[in-house]
Amino acid sequence: MPRLIIEGGHPLRGETEALGAKNAVLPIMAAAILCSGDVLLERVPDISDVRVMAGILTELGVEVEFLGGGRLRLNADRLANTRAPYELVRRMNASFDVAGPLLARFGECEVALPGGCNLGQRRVNLHLDAFRALGAEVHREHGMVKAQATRLRGTSIYFPKVSVGATKNATMAASLAEGETVLENAACEPEIVDLARFLQACGARVEGAGTPRIRVEGVRELRGASHAVTSDRIVTGTILCMTALSGGEVTVRNSPPEHLEAVLGELRKAGQEVRVQGNDVTLSARRPVRSLEVTTAPFPGFPTDLHPPLVALLVLGDGVSMLHETIFDGRFMYVGELVRLGANIRVSDHTAVINGVRFLAGAPVEASDIRAGGALIAAALAAEGETSIGGLEFIDRGYENVHTRLASLGARIRRVE
Ligand code: UD1
Repeated sequence: MPRLIIEGGHPLRGETEALGAKNAVLPIMAAAILCSGDVLLERVPDISDVRVMAGILTELGVEVEFLGGGRLRLNADRLANTRAPYELVRRMNASFDVAGPLLARFGECEVALPGGCNLGQRRVNLHLDAFRALGAEVHREHGMVKAQATRLRGTSIYFPKVSVGATKNATMAASLAEGETVLENAACEPEIVDLARFLQACGARVEGAGTPRIRVEGVRELRGASHAVTSDRIVTGTILCMTALSGGEVTVRNSPPEHLEAVLGELRKAGQEVRVQGNDVTLSARRPVRSLEVTTAPFPGFPTDLHPPLVALLVLGDGVSMLHETIFDGRFMYVGELVRLGANIRVSDHTAVINGVRFLAGAPVEASDIRAGGALIAAALAAEGETSIGGLEFIDRGYENVHTRLASLGARIRRVE
C-alpha cells in the first residue's frame, strides 16, 4: 500500500492556490441529474471522491467527461436507471446526494443506506422526512431506501437538527417540486450557498441559502449551466494548521476569509499571526502555541472537519487544551496515532483533553479518515525525524496531490507506492 514519508522540521513557505471544495462539488455533480442539457463545472478537485461520484453517475446513465484542467462535463439526458447500489454508495456518504435529484426529476429513486463510516453512524432520517414532507412515499427495504412521487409538492419543512446533507437534498428536490418550499433551521455552510448558486444558474428559484431559512419556488425544468466551484475552506484551514505546526509562513490565495472566520479566530487565539488581504489568507507561525478550548458546531461555528488538524497544533500548546466534538462520535480515531508521535491526549466522552508537549518524534502512523490524514501530515511536519503515514486511500479522498503541493512549499515529503 502507498505511504507518505515526511521528514519533519522543514518550515512551509510560499504561496498556494485554493482548490475547489469537495463538499460543494459532490452535491453539484449530483444536481446535474436535475438538468436537461450539458452541465459544465470548473475548479473540480482531482480527488478520489469526485471519481466515486462520477462512477455513481455513470452507473445511472449520466454522461461524465473529464475535460482536463479541473473541468468536468455532465449530461443526464439519457439517464437510464434510478438505482444507486450499495457497492458504490458505501464508499462515500455523499453518494446519498443523488437521492433528492433522482426523486425530483424521475419520480423515483432507490439508493443504498450509507450505514456507517469511521466517523460513526451516518443517519439519513432527516433527508427521508424531507422527502416525505414533499409528498414522496418512502420506505426502507433490504438496506435500500426507495422513494416515489409523481411530482413532489412544495411544503414547509423544519429540521429538528442542522444537517448539511439533508439541507442539500431537500433544496435539490424542492427545486423541481410544484409550488413553494420553505426550509427552516437549514444548514448555512458555504457549500450550500454554492449549490444554490449552481441551481440558480440552471433556472431554479432559490433564496436565502446561507441563512437558516431557505425558500425554493419549484420550477418545471432546469437547464444545464456552467459553474466554477467555490474554494475548499477545509483544505485551506488544514494548510494553515500545517503551516503553524511547521513553523513557516504560507499564503493561500483565493480562499474567501468569510468562510473561515471561526477558524482564523481560533488560530489567532492560539498565538498564530493571521493576515487577510482580499481573498488571500496568510499565516505566520509563532511560538508559543497558546492552549485553547474549542467546540465544533455547524457553520459559522468551528467546523468538525478541522477539529483533527487543530488538535494536531494544540499538541504543541503551552498548557491544557480542550476540543469538544458535537457532530461526529467517531471523530477521535486519529488521537491514538498522534500519541504515537509523542502527543499527550486523553479522550473522554466527546472531548479531547490535550496536554501540550515540547516536541514530537516521527513514527509510522495510519490515517483512519480524510481529516485524520490532514492532522497526521500536519503533526509529521513538526516531528523530529521521519514519519511514515498509511491510509492514503482516505487522504486521496479529500486532498488533491497533497505531497506535490506540500513539497512545492518546502516540505520534505514523498509518496512511495
Ligand atoms: C457533516 C458536517 C459537515 C462536514 C461533513 C464531512 C456539520 C453540521 N456537518 O456534513 O460540516 O463537512 O460532515 O463529512 O458540521 N444527522 C441525523 N440525521 C440525518 C442527517 C444527519 O441525525 O438525517 C446528524 C448526523 O449524525 C450528525 C449531524 O446530524 O451528527 C450533522 O450531519 P450532517 O450535517 O447531515 O452531515 P454531513 O452532511 O455529512
